[in-house]
Amino acid sequence: MTKKREKILVTSALPYANGALHLGHFAGAYLPGDIYSRYQRLLGKDVVYVCGSDEHGASITIRAKKEGISPKEIIDKYHNLNKESFQNIGMSFDIYHRTSEQLHHETAKEFFLKLDKDGDQFEIIESEQYYDKEFDQFLADRYIKGTCPKCSYEEAYGDQCENCGSDLSPLELINPLSTLSGKNPELKKTKHWFFKLNNHAEWLKDWIENGQFENKKVHNPQNWKSHVKGQCLAWLDDLKPRAITRDLSWGIPVPLDNAEGKVFYVWFDAPIGYISATKQWAINNDKNWEDYWKGEDSKLIHFVGKDNIVFHCIIFPAMLKAYGEYNLPFNVPANQFLNFEGRKFSKSKGWGIELHQYLIDFKDFQNKEDAIRYALIRNMPENKDSDFKWDEFIDFHDNELVANLGNFINRVLVLSHKYFDGVVPQVSVEGKVALEKVLPIISEYQTEIEGFNFRKAIIKFLEISSFGNTYLQDCSPWVIYKSDPESQQVKDCLYVCNQIVCLLSTLAEPFIPFSSKKIRKLLNLGEVKNGDLNIVLEQLKNQNSLLKSGHQIAKPELLFAKIRDPKDDSRIKIIEQQKAKLAEIIAFEKPIQEPIKETITYEDFIKMDIRTGTILKAEKIEKTDKLLKLIVDLGMEKRTVVSGIAKYYEPNKVIGQQVLVLANLAPRKLRGIESQGMILMAENEKGELCFASPIKNFGNGWVVK
Ligand code: MF3
Ligand code: ZN
Repeated sequence: MTKKREKILVTSALPYANGALHLGHFAGAYLPGDIYSRYQRLLGKDVVYVCGSDEHGASITIRAKKEGISPKEIIDKYHNLNKESFQNIGMSFDIYHRTSEQLHHETAKEFFLKLDKDGDQFEIIESEQYYDKEFDQFLADRYIKGTCPKCSYEEAYGDQCENCGSDLSPLELINPLSTLSGKNPELKKTKHWFFKLNNHAEWLKDWIENGQFENKKVHNPQNWKSHVKGQCLAWLDDLKPRAITRDLSWGIPVPLDNAEGKVFYVWFDAPIGYISATKQWAINNDKNWEDYWKGEDSKLIHFVGKDNIVFHCIIFPAMLKAYGEYNLPFNVPANQFLNFEGRKFSKSKGWGIELHQYLIDFKDFQNKEDAIRYALIRNMPENKDSDFKWDEFIDFHDNELVANLGNFINRVLVLSHKYFDGVVPQVSVEGKVALEKVLPIISEYQTEIEGFNFRKAIIKFLEISSFGNTYLQDCSPWVIYKSDPESQQVKDCLYVCNQIVCLLSTLAEPFIPFSSKKIRKLLNLGEVKNGDLNIVLEQLKNQNSLLKSGHQIAKPELLFAKIRDPKDDSRIKIIEQQKAKLAEIIAFEKPIQEPIKETITYEDFIKMDIRTGTILKAEKIEKTDKLLKLIVDLGMEKRTVVSGIAKYYEPNKVIGQQVLVLANLAPRKLRGIESQGMILMAENEKGELCFASPIKNFGNGWVVK
């Protein structure tokens, strides 16, 4: 009897086909899904990993309008671009589907109709919505712009202000404008289908908090990330019916007679896209899709960014439950956001790098795919936001991939050729024992991957390579070989090292699959296959060889080349170009232009007595986070000055700072302290205050003229 293989259905958020993906998206929802799927396949699990393009929604029609082409042209363009980038960076999707496919439209309609038939899932609500008369069209939230009621940003969208991040409704916008005609829209009555999400609050809570569903324990809440649970519980307090239809021409038409002109809201049909993708995969591979979505032995795992948590943990599960039969997600290990060199990715500002652009810019960079995968995993925003920096990319690459992993593998291959013509030597019984030490590290590696802690897991991987390096160094076969070329110790050492290289080729596969392939080639082995990790573990536990004595390996070749290489600057140059792009963006940033104040006379100016001085003492003033109390040496006297710089400077950092002081400003009391002057500051484009201070040192009490 063969045991039934456990099924794992893995999804990564379907990217909108209205733009290119950047490294932040890749690190957030795609790379982690790929690592996990590859790992589970290594364990011989029956994995189906689905993804595809999310091709509906107002953002796509807006993009099309902007570029003067049809939505179809937009989605084709970006579907192909993203699909190709994913392929080239080593994503191992089993299918990359599209929500514009007929099969998806049918699946979504059928799903809706079943919920509609239930009678208790939807309600139709009539309300007033903005309407563009000129374009004869109701306006989706994204089609309306106006002033944010919370922060006064003038370009806020009807659903969200991108300046302050507030969720908005179009009716809250001050001075709303249609993005179609540019005119003020009018309010007009329309009706929509609302999914009664509030009816699902109770079971959702029990399911998320306790892993309980219909009297069964379906997951262990301990294994859910706490930031994910936190966000869900905050939402559960306040679930309202949600509109799942829109008045738009682009999308899936609502299949009811009384719903003319309506399409599904994109977030209603998109997650159903995971189902249609699986259906298409099953058709292509002669499988049954329902085994993966409804089977008791199947687990559903969604990889998403934190902005998608509520859709995958609350709304889509409620839809699945309302439909019935479906499994609920077993886990939603969402990631937080990745920043780029200290700022948010921004397409309009050109800040960040898109996946396809990386692949172009780095086309001559050896192992470009794994270099970026490795750096992103080392710094993955798993539980909090993280920041990608080119300097760290170089450090991870040179210190870890080159100096640790690459170096170990290369030494082993070179020595094996030198002493044994590239043939794995015979080992003694005692010689093998050294290999036992890797078992606990492998087990930690597994625990971390299974717990979605990929940063920790990749460090465990590296630890095995470090173990190899230390072991090789301790043996120092080059010393023994000199006096005794026949020594069993030399054979044992290189036997063990070859086993470790082989082990690394397997453990590397989920993270850096291109390098895994190369290592296998150097070992004269085929690519890693499904179930290989089980075999390797068995072999290690039984003290059998991963690479048999007598096996012939290939000629050594360098896997990675240092970026900081004094003899070859080609790689560092590629990175310097990236940094130069960023420096240029910063250089061209317009400082905030405050209008020049009204003209004053020279006499007005010389009324100000500005002196040079040095800060002698600084302390925080209690119960304010803005003010510092400073003692400033003005040469002939010392002054107490209260200054509003506490947000930008720690007190101990400003002691000794040379400053300019307006010395004849009338004293005034701030928080009970008399301030006898004012320190001159300049405000930068981010609104931070910086000292107006000299390039040259100056003495105290000089007069500024
Ligand atoms: N297109 C959405 C985004 O990029 C994600 C959709 S995920 C799905 O944010 F579940 F709806 F498919
Ligand atoms: Zn705002």
